[in-house]
Order: sequence, then C-alpha cells, then structure tokens
Amino acid sequence: MKSGLWRAVLAAISLAMSAQAASTNFHFVQLTDLHWGTEEHLARTRWAVDSIRRLPPELKPDFVVVTGDMMADNILDEPAAVEGLRLLRSLNVPVHYLPGNHDILRHDLLRTRAAYTNLFGPRYHRAEHAGVTLLFVDAEPPRKNDGGGGTEAIEWLSNTLTQAQSQSVIVFQHAPAVLDFYDGRLRKHWSPKTIAAWTNLLQRPNVQAVITGHFHRDELHWLGRVPLYVSGPLAGYWGRQGSYRIYEYRDGRLSYRTVYLE
Ligand SMILES: [Fe+2]
Ligand SMILES: [Fe+2]
Repeated sequence: MKSGLWRAVLAAISLAMSAQAASTNFHFVQLTDLHWGTEEHLARTRWAVDSIRRLPPELKPDFVVVTGDMMADNILDEPAAVEGLRLLRSLNVPVHYLPGNHDILRHDLLRTRAAYTNLFGPRYHRAEHAGVTLLFVDAEPPRKNDGGGGTEAIEWLSNTLTQAQSQSVIVFQHAPAVLDFYDGRLRKHWSPKTIAAWTNLLQRPNVQAVITGHFHRDELHWLGRVPLYVSGPLAGYWGRQGSYRIYEYRDGRLSYRTVYLE
C-alpha cells in the first residue's frame, strides 16, 4: 500500500480511537428499600437477582447500588441480613450499600450503627468507575438534624466533592432532600434550612445526578441544576409492585429503565 494511503488509514484509526476514548458509557443497577425480614421480601430480592443475572449483554450492570432500607428496623437480627447479602454477592459485581432510616435506628444509635458497619460497610464511601466519581452518603443525620452527625455528613460531602475536582460525580443517598407528598399533603421530612444547604453543596458543574429511594414511589425532581432520581421500592409495603432500575450513564447523562416484578 502506498505511504499516503497508509497515513490516511492510520489517521482514521486514531480518530476513531480518540472518539471512543472520549465517550464514557456504562450501566448500573439500583435496588432500594428491600426491607429484609420476611420471606416475601427475601423472595423479591431473589427475583431481582435472577432477573439481573438474565439481563442481555447490552444492559449488564458494571455494579449495583442499594440505596438504603435493606432492613426493617431489625438490623440486630443478623440472620435476616445474611441471606439477602449472600444473594446480592452472588451477582459477582461490586455492590455498594448506604444506610436508610430503617437500617440505623436513632433510638439505638450505637448498636445499630456498629451492626450496619459490620454487615454493609462504611456509612460514607467513595468509588470510581470509568472516570466517574460515585459518592455513597449517609444523609440521615442531616435530614434528622442530628447536631454532630449532620455536620459530619455535610463536611464529608463537601470535602469529597472538592477532591473529585472536575471529575463527573453521581451522589447516592437514601432520602431525597425535597418535600414528601402523601395522603394529600406535603410533609417536611427535611428542614427547609437543611434542604437549602444540601442543595447548595451540590451546585457544582460536575455533579451529574443524585439518586435516592425512601419514598417507595417513583419521582423526579431538580435540586437547582441537578436532577434527583427517586426510585420505587423492591419491597411490597402499601401494595407496591416490586421493581428495580437499570441506569445507563452516557457522557454525563443518565437514563434509566424500570424492571417490574411480574
Ligand atoms: Fe423504605
Ligand atoms: Fe426509608
């Protein structure tokens, strides 16, 4: 082949490679509000795990996030957690947990917090996937306005966002920082002052989304310029049909599909 043609072929290959490098695309699964402790809820987790395992190659998740309420005020009853943990571990992808209000209990804080760490890991942690920073936050203390704990969470979030510099960030937490609407009225489950402080922290151009559960309903809100995704539960309280979500991250944009327990 003539050298001019070779150069053209090599230039085309390098262009294609750099376009590929610039594109970040991956899938992950969100499970939320599993509320282990009954046979029915464990069966729902078993169904979700089987369903995730059977996903087609194009939708295979690189990791799973469980956005809290794995338990139902029963974290000290360890066997209730063991089978659920074993099922999720069998997916053979990283599983990230964070605490919900039915995992760590305010009235028995020290014991349930220790049990949480022992079973599920740290209350705050950071991971990185394909150049995207993933933050898993225990947002219950600021939501409940627990003096020291609230400050700790806000400081952790602020520091880790600074450490991420310009890297894209997705924040995962249990309860969304917006008013809660049910039974015909809006309820303040966060203080307006804390909602404003939390929202303010997230207004950095590299924060792409906040992903939560807790409401046992599907909702979408905006925290300033940041989309807030609220997923429905896997658990069956209030007659809910269990579901989980498959998110697709593509160059800073998040879409999702919902898979329902039939
Ligand atoms: Fe829940
Ligand atoms: Fe909750």
